[in-house]
Amino acid sequence: MSTRIRPVLTDDAKVCGRIIYEAFNGIADAHGVRRDFPSIDVPTQFAAMFIAHPSIFGVVAEVDGRVVGAGFVTERDAIRAVGPIAVDPAYRGGGIGRQIMGAVLERAGEAVGVRLVQEAFNTRSVALYSSLSFEVKEPLLLMSGTPRGGPVPGYTVRPLVPDDIEPAARICAAVHGVERSAELRDALNAFHPLVVEHDSRITGYATAPIFWPMNHGVAETEGDMQALIAAAAAASPEPVSFLLPVRQAGLFRWCLLQGMQVVKPMTLMTIGEYREPSGA
Ligand SMILES: CC(C)(COP(=O)(O)OP(=O)(O)OC[C@H]1O[C@@H](n2cnc3c(N)ncnc32)[C@H](O)[C@@H]1OP(=O)(O)O)[C@@H](O)C(=O)NCCC(=O)NCCS
Repeated sequence: MSTRIRPVLTDDAKVCGRIIYEAFNGIADAHGVRRDFPSIDVPTQFAAMFIAHPSIFGVVAEVDGRVVGAGFVTERDAIRAVGPIAVDPAYRGGGIGRQIMGAVLERAGEAVGVRLVQEAFNTRSVALYSSLSFEVKEPLLLMSGTPRGGPVPGYTVRPLVPDDIEPAARICAAVHGVERSAELRDALNAFHPLVVEHDSRITGYATAPIFWPMNHGVAETEGDMQALIAAAAAASPEPVSFLLPVRQAGLFRWCLLQGMQVVKPMTLMTIGEYREPSGA
């Protein structure tokens, strides 16, 4: 069996979509949690978008000329973001994932930090990533639902416009020590990001309130975040979904009181620079 890692090509979108679909849905089914992808079209479009993106680097693993795995690292902002990483279930446990991660981390090179999110019930991925120097930083829960209380009075929630990117980046830097403005700019063109305003200034934002894989949200306070989540849900027929840091206990309790559901546990892991958040 000869394995080769090579850069991903436009023509690989279909096979990458199939592998992501089968790898992630297989793990979800084995653990009795909701599938991430209802159809193969979503991960295929996702893979095509990642392959075409000038700031996303991707590789595939070939065994005897057949693509059996794929991995991506997003290079938009200072902290690099790894994922998705997926190996054809027929080849799982054979060292392919380690080789893909090696290529992706080599690419991340001297970045000040690298982050990823793994499913907390996946014993294989947490072991693999830890052995490659990632450290567990934050327990997360994928939350989904429509808060039953409706919009929170005293806050304005509206679509993010280009002029909001600078103040939004300042909030992210204040909360996390780093900003994600390139990601925000991308979200503007694809995912209907929102900002929340309180006392006539922006106090938070969310990039993709109804599509959690592309959603990140930051707010100065839990109150700002609650208002943002509530209004985003009220404005959409779809439920909102996002990764909640479980240690944000007040926000978690609010989500539960609002009738939101816990979908699955996940874990934030990082290499390099990481700062405890101060804010929501
Ligand atoms: C996670 C995934 C990418 C790993 O790829 P893989 O080819 O199966 O993994 P590898 O065989 O390269 O490496 C797994 C490592 O974990 C180790 N491992 C597996 N289960 C383990 C356990 N329960 N405890 C400790 N170590 C374990 C293996 O021994 C191996 O380490 P080694 O190289 O030192 O032997 C792949 O299984 C997959 O696609 N899973 C479904 C999708 C997914 O969860 N992707 C990751 C999203 S973050």
